[in-house]
Amino acid sequence: MRLQSVRLSRVLLLCGAVNVFGIFAVLRLYLARPPDSAQSADRKYDSAGHGESARCPPLRQSAVSTASVGEWQTVGDREAFVYSAYYDDRPGIGDSRVRVLAMTTDNFAEKLFVCHLWYRDKKSSVVVDAASSYFGEGHEKKYDSTFYECLLPTADQLTAPRGVSIVTARCERATYVLDVHPVRAPVEPTHDFTLCVTPLNFRFDNHNQLTEMVEVNRMFGATKFVFYNYSSGHRVGEYLRAMKHEQLVDVIPWPLPVFVDTWPPNDMQPPEVHYFAQVAALNDCLYRYMSASRYIVFTDLDEFIVPQGVHSTWISMLSEAAPGGAYMFRNAFFWRDWPDDVTFANTEAVRRHELVTLLKTKRQEELNSFYERSKCIVAPPSVVAMGVHNVVAFASDASGHVEVEPSLGMVHHYRSVLTPSDVDVANTRDRRMHSFASGIIRKVARRHRHVDGYLKKLRLRSTKEM
Ligand SMILES: *[C@@H]1O[C@H](CO)[C@@H](O)[C@H](O)[C@H]1NC(C)=O
Repeated sequence: MRLQSVRLSRVLLLCGAVNVFGIFAVLRLYLARPPDSAQSADRKYDSAGHGESARCPPLRQSAVSTASVGEWQTVGDREAFVYSAYYDDRPGIGDSRVRVLAMTTDNFAEKLFVCHLWYRDKKSSVVVDAASSYFGEGHEKKYDSTFYECLLPTADQLTAPRGVSIVTARCERATYVLDVHPVRAPVEPTHDFTLCVTPLNFRFDNHNQLTEMVEVNRMFGATKFVFYNYSSGHRVGEYLRAMKHEQLVDVIPWPLPVFVDTWPPNDMQPPEVHYFAQVAALNDCLYRYMSASRYIVFTDLDEFIVPQGVHSTWISMLSEAAPGGAYMFRNAFFWRDWPDDVTFANTEAVRRHELVTLLKTKRQEELNSFYERSKCIVAPPSVVAMGVHNVVAFASDASGHVEVEPSLGMVHHYRSVLTPSDVDVANTRDRRMHSFASGIIRKVARRHRHVDGYLKKLRLRSTKEM
């Protein structure tokens, strides 16, 4: 218990104690775990002999099958679903543990969840109680995203289990094993910037938007794009496969096993999780790419973190910001309902590829404040849990959020108005994106040609095979 509160105060201090909302988010994460369950997480049981688990018949590894990657596994009577698991022994987090990404109905951590840890050199599982820490963005839905945390027994701190199963009682037989992926601070990262995108949904099929999004972010420094695919249309599917072929894009299946938002909304069948379990996808992405990427960028399809002033890339922009664990950028709405800028309104390529970043240059004069719709670029080793607009928990040795001045970088957000009166707000002309115009037009045109070429080759091959 003392351990928990020490860690809490440390996290608070490190968050800079500047922003009430940020602190609230962190508190929420830790307070979601009531004292009892925090304590029970420190109690450890192992199959070798003490604790209640000793009375359970041993569960043999060979009796449990490994779950397929990219599938949600059901825990108990749909009390929870689990998706992926990561072994975390970063210096800043305390005891080493396995984090299991989950959606759970257990909003107040009243129920017992149990981890079976599977080791290569042990015939049966090591059993410990799971603690959970919510990301605090459940929006009162039936399921909330969480990490189950399985703190490793003292004797096994240094060894990553090969697999884990979460069950609802100590003696319950697991029916699946999730592979456990070790995470490490990147020594020689493959990527400077990996971009994690909110799950694709509503059969998203706007290939022009996808192409512009990829090429503009590539120009700023992204070398890997990660798409969580709940549903996407045929045309976007072709584009994703073409870009996957050149290893620019990874597509992670995201087949949510619960009711989600539909368009149009269906009152008879309300969504059971907020917005396609977005926050779960972001956290999966954080851990999946932690070892491979120096920075991770979290934005939606219609948002761009745009370097300002003399900077035309993220790396150059960040070199001028104070060092930190997460760089936070303020949001600026460029309502799509506002008329097009005349500068490119008659440029054929801009029209044909619907280049929103060049057509929409009217923006809301007043930016949203930090933590309100802001987006982040994070140094992944510093981050324990990611929210949609800010980091929810930092590793204890991380230095917290850096609030980046809009003169250095801001979020350009291109979307339709939320309420009709939004178009009436004070606005200003912002042609920052025009300084990148020739690059954007050239890169977007080349991307469309590439994809066409790739698809033609595929078709040729399949006709030859017939
Ligand atoms: C995305 O998911 C849908 C639904 O499962 C599937 O039909 C489609 O092929 C997937 N697209 C890609 C590019 O993986």
